Amino acid sequence: MNAATEAMTGGRAEAGSARRPIGIGVIGFGWLGHAHSRSMQRIRTLLPQRTFDPVLVACGDPVEAQRRDAVDSFGFARASADWRRVIDDPEVEVVYIAAPNMLHLELVEAAAQAGKPVFCEKPVGGTPEQVARAAAAARRAGVPSGVGYNYRWAPLVQYARELIAGGELGDITNYRGRFFSMYGADPLGVLSWRFLQDEGGYGVTSDLLSHAVDLAHLLLGPITRVVGTTATVISERPLPNPSPPTRASHYGRGEPGDPTGAVTNEDYAGMLCEFASGARGTFEVSRAIIGPESQMAFDVYGTRGAAGWSLEQLNELRLYRATDDRGSGYTTVLGGDRFPYHGAFVPGAGNPIGYEDLVVIEDYEFLRAVVEERPFAPGFDEALQWARVQAALLRSVRSGSWEDVMPVPEEEAA
Ligand SMILES: NC(=O)c1ccc[n+]([C@@H]2O[C@H](COP(=O)([O-])OP(=O)(O)OC[C@H]3O[C@@H](n4cnc5c(N)ncnc54)[C@H](O)[C@@H]3O)[C@@H](O)[C@H]2O)c1
Repeated sequence: MNAATEAMTGGRAEAGSARRPIGIGVIGFGWLGHAHSRSMQRIRTLLPQRTFDPVLVACGDPVEAQRRDAVDSFGFARASADWRRVIDDPEVEVVYIAAPNMLHLELVEAAAQAGKPVFCEKPVGGTPEQVARAAAAARRAGVPSGVGYNYRWAPLVQYARELIAGGELGDITNYRGRFFSMYGADPLGVLSWRFLQDEGGYGVTSDLLSHAVDLAHLLLGPITRVVGTTATVISERPLPNPSPPTRASHYGRGEPGDPTGAVTNEDYAGMLCEFASGARGTFEVSRAIIGPESQMAFDVYGTRGAAGWSLEQLNELRLYRATDDRGSGYTTVLGGDRFPYHGAFVPGAGNPIGYEDLVVIEDYEFLRAVVEERPFAPGFDEALQWARVQAALLRSVRSGSWEDVMPVPEEEAA
């Protein structure tokens, strides 16, 4: 039985088998730091077939309120303003990184140097060069790596992957990926780290297009060349209020008349591409669009059928089979415990699962791979595949021409 089947069938660990405690350190205790920490607790109650028990050992965050929350509400044994203390903690066996993007590289390098498996939120650095250096650091140290491309783990996305790989949709001719989010659509949305090149690195190409292309890589394989464009739609935003001393996340809102600062990275990206398989694709992402609230979505078209999925309808896969009665058109496949993992969260069919459930699946899969000393994907090598596409897109924005996807120079240097 593989992990997914076990989860679906509610498989049990061998009677009497001891579960190995595995010490977790989390660095960056904002949205995703919370999500991964909650996920560690939920693994213990949702997945009885596990052979390990995650233990929340140490949390690192410069904001005192976050550290208090980590210890008082989540049950971390300790918390520190200095992330080095998390990595050096002898009881921390696996390091989770959920800090702003431009900190990822330094944190990954330190975790790798300490010889600890490291799970880093996407994009593993704010620039393609940083992703390449992070991947090289983990490879040199021989530590397992994982990346938070959580949408891969939606059971219906995995089902679409199976359909495509099994030839059910025929030869794939074209693909449409998008991530439209309204998180930056309000001009009063504060100038958080995401809007600043020196804290977030690139804008939506790092934040959103990375997710969209990761799914395309999963479903169709590598992209070979691209041409694209980027834009900044809202160029000034209110500065976060420094009192109380919390760092605003991307849903923070200022007031009219607040002092403002300049947005230094892109709000929008569009890209046309070719896949190694011969398929063509288009991608569009925006954080400053009105209408779609969190449309992380794809449509894939083949010679025998088509499929489409969106995060806004996480529990629905739209499927068109040209072999069916012509009158049926697109049909909707509803999520349910007939798909791996779904039944771990809610029994039956049509009862929906949610965003954080995908984080539980990814964390369980990663920790299981670490404990069993098996390879894991998506790791830093998959993040690097994306970084090469991002580097080509950024070259294309400058040149105005098609650009080949190739290793970024830092890979050679590393
Ligand atoms: N996979 C996903 O769906 C998804 C969704 C959101 C964010 N993310 C990723 O997660 C990461 C964090 O994003 P977020 O939305 O949780 O951000 P956030 O702003 O909510 O949280 C970031 C946290 O990092 C802390 N921090 C800042 N400097 C630090 C330092 N030097 N040491 C330790 N902690 C520090 C902040 O105080 C804050 O608590 C980013 O890399 C982002 O790309 C992934």
